[in-house]
Amino acid sequence: MVRSCWYVIGLGGDFAPETLHETMVAGRVLVVWRDRAGGLHALDGRCAHKRFPLAKGRLLEDGTLECAYHGFRYDPEGRCVAVPALAGRHEHLERLRCVARFPVVEQTGVVWVWPGVGEPPSGPPSTPELEEPGWQVAVRGPWRLRADAQLLIENLLDLTHFYPLHAGNIGTFADASVPVEVSRSSDGSPPLLTCTRRRRAFHFGPTKARWFGCDVGDNDATHAMVTPGMFRVEERGGPVGSLEAGLARGFVLYQFITPVRAGELAWWRLVCSPETLEVEGEQRPLAEVVAEDCEVVVAQDAWALEEQQRMVDLGDEGFREVQVRTDAPVVMARRLLADLEGSVDAEPAAVAQ
Ligand code: FES
Ligand SMILES: [Fe+2]
Repeated sequence: MVRSCWYVIGLGGDFAPETLHETMVAGRVLVVWRDRAGGLHALDGRCAHKRFPLAKGRLLEDGTLECAYHGFRYDPEGRCVAVPALAGRHEHLERLRCVARFPVVEQTGVVWVWPGVGEPPSGPPSTPELEEPGWQVAVRGPWRLRADAQLLIENLLDLTHFYPLHAGNIGTFADASVPVEVSRSSDGSPPLLTCTRRRRAFHFGPTKARWFGCDVGDNDATHAMVTPGMFRVEERGGPVGSLEAGLARGFVLYQFITPVRAGELAWWRLVCSPETLEVEGEQRPLAEVVAEDCEVVVAQDAWALEEQQRMVDLGDEGFREVQVRTDAPVVMARRLLADLEGSVDAEPAAVAQ
């Protein structure tokens, strides 16, 4: 599991002021809250005294967090600023960051946390379409799946599963063999991996036929693993020749994948588009139609990933994986993730200020 990465823990509206939330990201339990001024804070969720969950405590008038067990008080930096049993003689603790603090950022309405070691080299990946004037955003999730985040990452790069898993909605038999162009970031900057598929005079499945307004047409689709925590999908499509003529319609889909811990993930999908679509005589936002149509697709993927995880959990004994040519993006993603995992992760120690 890659820890040194920005991961989504919710949308801005999920964090009401002065309410403590317990959340788990990449195997770390965190307590997250929004202060009275709107700022967000994230600390290790375990009290440094006897590991009582800090989210069961309370926020005091001065903005400190009081543990519900013995009353150790922490400031938003994780410094212990009061210990009732020591009656004021706690200065030695105040010099320590007793509880680890984690960077947390709200950006275009999305809340991101960095569960890695040390400070992140840069901010969360950019998501400009989430607040583009005139664009609609349709939000779905979070789905919580009993599956490793890596299985979802592999799924999103590998559209050869459009048949048979999604046959009858977004997929057809022919989708499984659409050629894919793969490009990998040369210097580790995002996007890490990008897969592009171009379909021309293609017989769409029923869902894409609806989105693009024709049974046979052209479609460009780009699936980018921006970071292990975010995919950006861009699709445009329409009748034959419409892409080149600039007459196709399309959308951007952000997918946030957060490893909760080994064998568990959280998944959000936010579809963005400025365009509308006529459905039964009514103009509807394309973003909303796509999000709605994809609910069945997500349920199919969720089923597949949890079934796959059930087999993964049995271990490797007697199993040998067969990789075919079209698994290239998945193999590249595995290497990337292994490199990223290998390049981190000592536990943060209490740091003297
Ligand atoms: S466990 Fe939190 S104060 Fe003792
Ligand atoms: Fe899928």
